[in-house]
Amino acid sequence: MARDFGLIPQVVPKVETRHRRIVTALPVPESLATLEKLHRYEPLAMRGQPPVVWHRAEGFQVYDPYGNCWIDWSSGVLITNAGHGRREIVDAVVAQASSGLLTNYAFPSEMRARLVERLASLLPKPLEKVFLLTTGSETVECAIKLIRAHGAKVGGRAKNIIVSYDDAFHGRTLGAQQAGGIPSLKEWIGNMDPGFVQVPFPDGFRTADTSFDFFERSLAACGVQSRNVAAVLLETYQGGSAAFALPDYMHALRKWCDANEALLVLDEVQAGFGRTGTMWGFEHYGIVPDLALFGKGISSSLPLAAVAGPADLMDSQPIGTMTSTHTGNPVCCAAALASIDLVVREKLPANACKVGNVLHERLREMQSRLPQIGSVQGRGLVAGVACVEPGTTQPDAELAWDVVRRCYEQGVLMFSPVGFGGATVKIAPPLVITEAAILESAAVLEEAFGEATR
Ligand SMILES: Cc1ncc(COP(=O)(O)O)c(C=O)c1O
Repeated sequence: MARDFGLIPQVVPKVETRHRRIVTALPVPESLATLEKLHRYEPLAMRGQPPVVWHRAEGFQVYDPYGNCWIDWSSGVLITNAGHGRREIVDAVVAQASSGLLTNYAFPSEMRARLVERLASLLPKPLEKVFLLTTGSETVECAIKLIRAHGAKVGGRAKNIIVSYDDAFHGRTLGAQQAGGIPSLKEWIGNMDPGFVQVPFPDGFRTADTSFDFFERSLAACGVQSRNVAAVLLETYQGGSAAFALPDYMHALRKWCDANEALLVLDEVQAGFGRTGTMWGFEHYGIVPDLALFGKGISSSLPLAAVAGPADLMDSQPIGTMTSTHTGNPVCCAAALASIDLVVREKLPANACKVGNVLHERLREMQSRLPQIGSVQGRGLVAGVACVEPGTTQPDAELAWDVVRRCYEQGVLMFSPVGFGGATVKIAPPLVITEAAILESAAVLEEAFGEATR
């Protein structure tokens, strides 16, 4: 269960290092007016993150207005792949905003044309058409529409089952939430669509059986006939744990989808744009999905998202039926083009791989010493550290929260714990982070675990 950090300032030890600076009580007494205003005017459901008032952010660091500076292990929420506040992105945004065109709906614009062309040129065939949206959840809703239309076309109305995975997160809108696999997030829905079915994710930790056979057995146990499956939808890695499936499993899934005329849809909203050490997360599996969904790191800044797929699928809807008010907003497109240029030019996937290897090695060392760390998952610059009751897979949310709080007080900023039982400490810094900063922040994490388990 998520919780709040509270608004009572605590005296914390001063920190002054190359990359971090904590010189006030936390939360900062002078920030309380802002924090209280947010509490007063925003819904309770918006709370739960460390109470740092973000003032400025640069590269892999976040600054408040009171002299404190954190190494950012959140990237917002995996947004700033190219780094915070990059000059190139700022310039592109300013240039477009000053050009006189701030919006364009679905009317043609040069910026939108440039971005869809750029994305298509970076994606493997047959992902050749791109539909721009604003949020990751919308890409999932769009996929649901394309999936259902595809199912009806190739197998009639009964071919409408969307298989997704336990513990998956695909967003908070109605369809995306039903495709998700976290029961507590779906309680509000009431009358669930029976066309959404979840099976266990082969993470090798809580689901020991990682064979593809288990997928087929799980479907049968849910009473699903293969021929009625319109699509299998999954995150390239599970956001809540950072767990990947095995490549063999994904190859078998690709074959199974082809054999059953079901679409394979990969939600790359977290995994895309270099996060996992390759430009696209699905490269780790050596397969190409029928639809790929993008968001977050696409622009490192302004809201933008995209659905990519083959022409026949993307053109399956009649003229004028797939639009959105802010589809490909030109300022957001300019930001995305600049961010993608940085990711490519600065070889940020390669940096994510190199620095990520250092991070994962350090995390595995910690795991070997601490029985409270049940698993370390992820690749590149995403990692999930699952806190457990020693010797079990039972989540220890208390420990995860304590660790995140201690890190925040020491100048390493993460969002609050995620995943199964709210007990996964998630690490996802901007891809520009250096080895020195990763080692410095990993030492803070180790100390936090040490103190929290003492
Ligand atoms: C894998 C995945 N898909 C979809 C979403 C939803 O994206 P948004 O919050 O932009 O709607 C998220 C958000 O965290 C996500 O992690």
